[in-house]
Amino acid sequence: MNLSDLQKYIKIIDTPLDVNLEIPHLAYIEAKKKNPKILMFTNPVEGEKKFDMPVVMNIFANDEVVREIFGKDLEEIALEIENLIKMKPPKTLSEKLKAFGKLFAIKNTIPKSVTSGDCQYHIYEGEAAKLSRLPILKTWELDGGKFITMGQVYTKSLDGSIRNVGMYRLQVYDDKRLGLHWQIHKDSAHLFWEYKKAGLKMPVAVAIGGDPLWTWCATAPMPPGIFEVMLYGFIRGKNPRLVKCVSNDLEVPADADIVIEGWCDPEEMEIEGMFGDHTGYYTLKKPFPVMHVDTITTKKDPVYYATVVGKPPLEDKYMGYATERIFLPLLKTTSPDLIDYAMPENGVFHNLILCKIAPRYPGHSLQIMHSLWGVGQMSFVKHAIFVNEDAPKLRDYEKITEYILNHFNPRNILISKGIVDELDHSSIEELVGGKLGIDATSESDSKKIELLSDEELSEKLKELDESIEEIKQYMTHTKNPICVIKYNKTKKAKEVFERIKILKNHLRIVVFINTPETFNPYMLMWRVTNNIDALRDVWIEDIIGIDGTNKDKNIDDFDREWPPDVDTTKEIIEKLKNLGLIEGISEEELKKYQII
Ligand SMILES: Cc1cc2nc3c(=O)[nH]c(=O)nc-3n(C[C@H](O)[C@H](O)[C@H](O)COP(=O)(O)O)c2cc1C
Repeated sequence: MNLSDLQKYIKIIDTPLDVNLEIPHLAYIEAKKKNPKILMFTNPVEGEKKFDMPVVMNIFANDEVVREIFGKDLEEIALEIENLIKMKPPKTLSEKLKAFGKLFAIKNTIPKSVTSGDCQYHIYEGEAAKLSRLPILKTWELDGGKFITMGQVYTKSLDGSIRNVGMYRLQVYDDKRLGLHWQIHKDSAHLFWEYKKAGLKMPVAVAIGGDPLWTWCATAPMPPGIFEVMLYGFIRGKNPRLVKCVSNDLEVPADADIVIEGWCDPEEMEIEGMFGDHTGYYTLKKPFPVMHVDTITTKKDPVYYATVVGKPPLEDKYMGYATERIFLPLLKTTSPDLIDYAMPENGVFHNLILCKIAPRYPGHSLQIMHSLWGVGQMSFVKHAIFVNEDAPKLRDYEKITEYILNHFNPRNILISKGIVDELDHSSIEELVGGKLGIDATSESDSKKIELLSDEELSEKLKELDESIEEIKQYMTHTKNPICVIKYNKTKKAKEVFERIKILKNHLRIVVFINTPETFNPYMLMWRVTNNIDALRDVWIEDIIGIDGTNKDKNIDDFDREWPPDVDTTKEIIEKLKNLGLIEGISEEELKKYQII
């Protein structure tokens, strides 16, 4: 598979656009459309400078493109993996033949080393190996610089027995140095520790492009020690073809468009960021290892692949969905009673998981909550909601919310503590934070509240606390309606909560915000799941209170720095509009996704 196989999904943009903000802003808007396209920018520029290769963005543009890239339905791949995991010793001849087929699929996972690759058509060494050759993008106004956003970062363990690829962003410091943003929990960071202990330099190679499936594999949360390219071979049904780098021993996909080869010295760290991240908030400046570039190789006519992350929905929605489906059987190896799960993109994946189970004993969902929070990248999940097998489809968000609220019992809430994603900005302490588990597998015994209209309730609430600006009730037909309260934050949300508690006959679940999402449930979910640390922000009393506000040093005694939202630059949007490049999306949608 290569880009030409995806021709019919590609929209060509010939207008010269700048790598600084313009190209990524257009890709950002495209990704918000109902049926986004892959965008190919044939004339990337930087001021007066022209680049000699195109930029392709949104390569995992939509579900149909993802199916095309994987070559089959995601459920089919999941089933093949499940069959392999559950394989029993064959007894009859027909079972033996079937087993042979499955084992043959395993044979395909073994990488094949080839002696030459298209990715080494051009070889730039020494002074010629300059990062400024590549049309690397600056995505957001407050970004600390330009970042490679679709790099497959190849490393290996000190003794060479383990190979790894992960997709980590890389900040361009200058022509020869990149910031390696592998987060502390990730496999390459573990391998890096081995080199650090031994006081040795670590070889690194960054491949960009080639078969788009390589890129997805780099994001796949495979257990440590298992080389992700094996999954590539399994899905493609043929051995992954890797070629040795020119200047080190690492192997990279032979069909990659671009390969950046180099090394890092574990003693050298440099500030990385800020960067407008997939949480929709910036990640703040922090030291990360530095990669020194020795060699750059490319195909004859390379294409530079990039993605844009920020507020959802974006391309990672479609990549994440593929991961969710394909990893269900693997997740079942540690949580065997899980029937299904969903990680909505507006919960930015690790902020919300919905799980379906058939509970057989008290505490069954608690048992699975703990297994999720204890294994691999699932342990980053902050909020987990469990529903019974009779619940509607997990991705029917309207119906599933209704179900959850009709099965919500305050006594079935677990608040715990564990590791959180390095990107999480709301936890009291960096890397460690609150976990919220809701067992909604049995009927709610809550009595219905006495409902008031939004107007009546708003009046009563404003009488109790004048900082309240607007309110909206959701899911009022359920046993546990939600009331969203936006207030002018000059004091803690808990203080407002204390004042309004006397309205317990009219309120059940109250969510506080100080941002503009009161009437926008999609972005409300994004904001609130991002902003809570359950240990600090969830109060279980007659009313359940949730503080989804942005936290503040003085008001909330929040010791960390609170990051800004990731937002577009107005002048860039204006320019793209004037060029006639923004089309196929309504003003209403642009507003909903906070673009204008
Ligand atoms: C668009 C995108 C960007 C990502 N950027 C980073 C990043 O900068 N750092 C990081 O540690 N993980 C990042 N990830 C997540 C990793 O790719 C993912 O956790 C992967 O499983 C890591 O591989 P590893 O377990 O081999 O380390 C990103 C994922 C996506 C989809």
